[in-house]
Amino acid sequence: MNISCVQTKICFRAPALDRHSIKAVVLVLLLGGLTLGCNRANPADDAPVRFVWTGAVDAESAHIVAGLNKTAREVRLHYSVEKTMTDSTTMTRMRSDRPGNQRVAQFQLTDLLPNTRYFYLVSLDGRLDSSSIGTFKTFPPEGPASFSVAFGSCAATGSDHPVFSTIRRLQPLFFLHLGDMHYENIGVNDVNEYRRAWDQVLASNTQSLLYRSHPIAYIWDDHDFGPNNSDRTAAGRQAARLTYQEYVPHYPLPAGTGDVPIYQAFSAGRVRFILSDLRSARDPYERPDSPQKTLMGARQKQWFFDELLESSGRYPLIVWVSTLPWIGDYDSGTDGWPEYQFERREIAEFIDRHQIRGLCMLSGDAHMLAIDDGTNTQYAAEGGRGFPLMHAAALDRIGTRKGGPYSHGTYRGGGQFGLMTIKDNGGELIDVHWSGRTDDNEELLRYSFSVKAP
Ligand SMILES: [Fe+2]
Repeated sequence: MNISCVQTKICFRAPALDRHSIKAVVLVLLLGGLTLGCNRANPADDAPVRFVWTGAVDAESAHIVAGLNKTAREVRLHYSVEKTMTDSTTMTRMRSDRPGNQRVAQFQLTDLLPNTRYFYLVSLDGRLDSSSIGTFKTFPPEGPASFSVAFGSCAATGSDHPVFSTIRRLQPLFFLHLGDMHYENIGVNDVNEYRRAWDQVLASNTQSLLYRSHPIAYIWDDHDFGPNNSDRTAAGRQAARLTYQEYVPHYPLPAGTGDVPIYQAFSAGRVRFILSDLRSARDPYERPDSPQKTLMGARQKQWFFDELLESSGRYPLIVWVSTLPWIGDYDSGTDGWPEYQFERREIAEFIDRHQIRGLCMLSGDAHMLAIDDGTNTQYAAEGGRGFPLMHAAALDRIGTRKGGPYSHGTYRGGGQFGLMTIKDNGGELIDVHWSGRTDDNEELLRYSFSVKAP
């Protein structure tokens, strides 16, 4: 029988582990050399483990992906609530469990404690790689909870911009990446091209430190899915989808696995996050607009509508991550919802007709900070209610402006990100504060609103 994954509770007496290596690691950890709060560089090129990062975190589980510099018969993940790893649990992946790319190992951690910080290390064939240490905090259990989320999009491939260190120091619950994680503009159906691109991202110092110390939720945009303004006809669509599932720790994909779009949803506290894949299922943006032209594709749109119906009334705040600009006039040349105005109106009317409450939108793509309080986001034919919207970009690109108008203005530029703070003490109102910030942690834009708990 081929056992694909084994979890065991271990201590120093565990025979399968190198006792001396664990003791050495504990010693180094105790000396503080591997504290993730410091500005330690990414693992060296010759280290057995190339990168680690965590995603799909909730109150009791997490998904960790480790990139390896060499093949191994057995890869183990050791995790513990103790930074010293003195009492750790081990999860084992055998070579036979890792079809395809033997240089990437995935671990699905379950039965974790909520609201708890975990530390982890990777070992290959019994040898611990002390440079592979990572950490993350599980989410609070479903129900009232206060927390912050950092978000942003658009960084040059492998960017080492200080903005990532600024975000890390703010210690958000997780980092929401809204796309353009790299700018490789891959135009061929070759998984190795996509692997190379994400390898470059994860080799950067400031970014990899952020991802090794905070969970990520990530949805792509055009440049990390395919070429500029790319869509479902992109040559690399299949390779992009497969490599995302191989490399990126992600929430379960409602579309399934394999050559499928990567839309997904999750919750934290009393907030529902809905991430739309607006690249790999959409029609080309140059195509004349019509009721049939789609950014989402029929299947994703039905899932999105179902998500809205299920979330409205259950979650006081629904954060729709749309990645692309929502506001703007048709034919304005904006690669976003303005060029799909029939579908935009269909969605706006669905929101209105079903009285979806507590909706807001986070967006990237345009290299700017921008906030609209709902004055300009209403597109139903009969009128109706708008919803607050915030753009947060660019992490590390030259500034641009797209779409608009935006009630609270825009700041064009790089070295920018957004911070959303949720204050939910279990009362009738949940307070939401949006802040557009620079890499110096200076606030350029702000907006606060409250949503009513059902
Ligand atoms: Fe971008």
